[in-house]
Amino acid sequence: MRTKARKYADLIDHPRLIQPWHPRFASIAGQWRSSFFCPVERVVLELACGRGEYSQTLSGVDQRTGWVGVDIRADRMWHGIRFADEHDRPNMLFLRTIIHHLDRYFLPWEVDEIRIIHPDPRPRGADERRRLTSFRFLPLYERLLKPWGIVRIKTDHIWLYTYSMESFASHGWVCGAHTDDVDSSPLLADHHGIQTHYEKKARASWLSICYAWRTKPL
Ligand SMILES: C[S@@+](CC[C@H](N)C(=O)[O-])C[C@H]1O[C@@H](n2cnc3c(N)ncnc32)[C@H](O)[C@@H]1O
Repeated sequence: MRTKARKYADLIDHPRLIQPWHPRFASIAGQWRSSFFCPVERVVLELACGRGEYSQTLSGVDQRTGWVGVDIRADRMWHGIRFADEHDRPNMLFLRTIIHHLDRYFLPWEVDEIRIIHPDPRPRGADERRRLTSFRFLPLYERLLKPWGIVRIKTDHIWLYTYSMESFASHGWVCGAHTDDVDSSPLLADHHGIQTHYEKKARASWLSICYAWRTKPL
């Protein structure tokens, strides 16, 4: 078992982790498609990715897409990076940044899809700005996504799910589908059996898993 410090040390010069001293860090905006280790047609972000379990599985299922895990915690992304190395996934990269700064690293229309998987719920009213589906983030995603680009959110916090539905509606996001119990919904098929680290904890407490997707405003 590696310590947190050891994980950070392992990743100091890792080519899959775009962080401030990576040679491409300052110039990666607009260059994502050519930054993977293979040609890709689409770019999908897994925000607040932690270990990046969605990218781990889906990079194998859909090899024409480049999967980018985004988180501030490199020690969590270490697990996804190790997986990518061991399973030889040329279409997996990770970006270490706070999500508020996403538009420093992606140009408008550079992203095809955004997945937000079990984000921190930030229930305090004073923390609304930090919720990843708040008024602060939806316009940011709207700028980076292509026309018809979509955002997916999965959470075990029912009130964050309700909040997110209202936030999407008030910002004009349309179409899509949603469920407050993904296990009893046909939308379960969107997940390829993936349960992340935090989702497993929620399921151990018998919490139901909410899921929704919405298309960006035209
Ligand atoms: C509750 S964990 C979920 C991790 C993973 N998606 C899962 O389901 O196991 C939330 C993650 O979001 C990251 N995070 C929270 N706010 C962030 C922000 N503003 N910018 C970057 N990462 C953030 C944390 O470091 C943490 O890894």
